Amino acid sequence: MKSLVLLLLFFTASFAKDSKLIKVNNSFITTFEYGEMLYNNPRGIGCDTCHAKDAKGKKIVSFQHIYKKKKYDCVLNVPNIKNVDYKVFLEKVNSKKNPRKKFSKEQVCEKLIYKSSIMPTYFLVEDEVKAIYYYITNLK
Ligand code: HEC
Repeated sequence: MKSLVLLLLFFTASFAKDSKLIKVNNSFITTFEYGEMLYNNPRGIGCDTCHAKDAKGKKIVSFQHIYKKKKYDCVLNVPNIKNVDYKVFLEKVNSKKNPRKKFSKEQVCEKLIYKSSIMPTYFLVEDEVKAIYYYITNLK
């Protein structure tokens, strides 16, 4: 009996050590699969909608903006997120609003887009963010 308990403990421990495996709904899936699932279907609008399936970003829309009687042709390009530093990534995903940032006078479109904080706020725990990050950075 004692050895059975030890054996079980050993198995649990060796499973827990493999950080690439995560338990979801009683079935084991890889971090990559878990990240893929969350990337396409987090609680909220899927990241893929704006950042594209491959996470390399895409152009969402172009529009005209009039500012001080001048016309600006703006393009909303959603950035590539494959090479973002993890700290930046973690902060951005759950942040409510973009932090203050300086723009030059000519960057009318950039400022408008940045200030409107287009990306929604998510409420993901760190394991979820880590899985998404793992998925994106390992995506071919
Ligand atoms: C409605 C569109 C939209 C959705 C959905 C969206 N994003 Fe974004 N995301 C943006 C835009 C636009 C920017 C750049 C402008 C800004 O920072 O607000 C951005 C910026 C980012 C950045 C910062 C990139 C950098 O270089 O600093 C990260 C990281 C990011 N998004 C990750 C995600 C993840 C992960 C998800 C899903 C959980 C997601 N985004 C969903 C539109 C979106």
